[in-house]
Amino acid sequence: MEPSTYHIPVLRDESVRQLITNPDGIYIDATFGGGGHSAWILECLGSDGHLFGVDRDLDARAHCTIEDERFTFVRSDFRYIGHFMEYFGIREVDGILADLGVSSHHLDEAERGFSFRFDAPIDMRMNQAGGDTAADLIRTSTPEELTHILKDYGEVRGARRIATLMKQAADAGTLHTIQDLLDAIAPANPPHDKKGLAKIFQALRIAVNDEMGALQDLLCVGEKLLKPGGHFAVITYHSLEDRPVKNFFRTGNTEGTRHTDHFGVPISSFEPLYTKPTLPTGEEIEANPRSRSAKLRTGVRCEK
Ligand SMILES: C[S@@+](CC[C@H](N)C(=O)[O-])C[C@H]1O[C@@H](n2cnc3c(N)ncnc32)[C@H](O)[C@@H]1O
Repeated sequence: MEPSTYHIPVLRDESVRQLITNPDGIYIDATFGGGGHSAWILECLGSDGHLFGVDRDLDARAHCTIEDERFTFVRSDFRYIGHFMEYFGIREVDGILADLGVSSHHLDEAERGFSFRFDAPIDMRMNQAGGDTAADLIRTSTPEELTHILKDYGEVRGARRIATLMKQAADAGTLHTIQDLLDAIAPANPPHDKKGLAKIFQALRIAVNDEMGALQDLLCVGEKLLKPGGHFAVITYHSLEDRPVKNFFRTGNTEGTRHTDHFGVPISSFEPLYTKPTLPTGEEIEANPRSRSAKLRTGVRCEK
């Protein structure tokens, strides 16, 4: 599969422009995916620069076509990049890019189970090498836990009813495929309500992959790894992701609590590069509708 069909990079030029402060520095692309951002970062780096491309998905590694001595692929959850940098003998990096969420490859590959457009096992794992699938999650969660997942990660209307229907199907042993799931929840969310389905699938996917926990850890690891003056560029796709990132770059914590020193001067490990997020242009949205909800925010690491 060509990189452009695997995934079209969103806000590519602008995110890389905001990321690179020193062309001969060390950078991390924490969400390699189809490698679109990585390829452009390498294009913009000098001969002494180096890029680590990280992804937890086996397919990202398998489809990686970059052959460049300035590039190293690391198959890992990005929350562990601190350990990998230690392994490579690197204490600090000049910049980190994270383009959150799933790739088009995830949504378009039927058997990954991320999309309600195809029938397949109910999987939804980004790391297909291990961990619980969405079917496992439904089977092992209580109706209350499932209701919370649907509400908190998808703002799903009728979350309790949908959770109950899912559990009933799982308990009856009739929940194996995406079609089984669609049939089970149809009384509460009919198949033609695609917006509703998108929210339900988003909620399950976020829970299966612990996306919120991983993001929280990534921000903390980035704080430790970045050099003073280094840039942390993050592209988010919904408010659950955007809020902690925005807060972190403003205050140094994901809750957005402002801390001050004895003189009332704000203390934070980051400051935002720009006060407003960078959004895709109308032209980019037209060419790539999946970019429509993207927001790019860049934090600058303050003096340690
Ligand atoms: C939006 S795609 C990135 C696309 C990429 N920027 C490109 O240009 O092709 C997000 C990627 O991040 C990966 N990912 C998401 N969460 C991750 C995590 N916690 N650790 C490592 N990779 C993760 C996914 O597997 C997916 O391939």
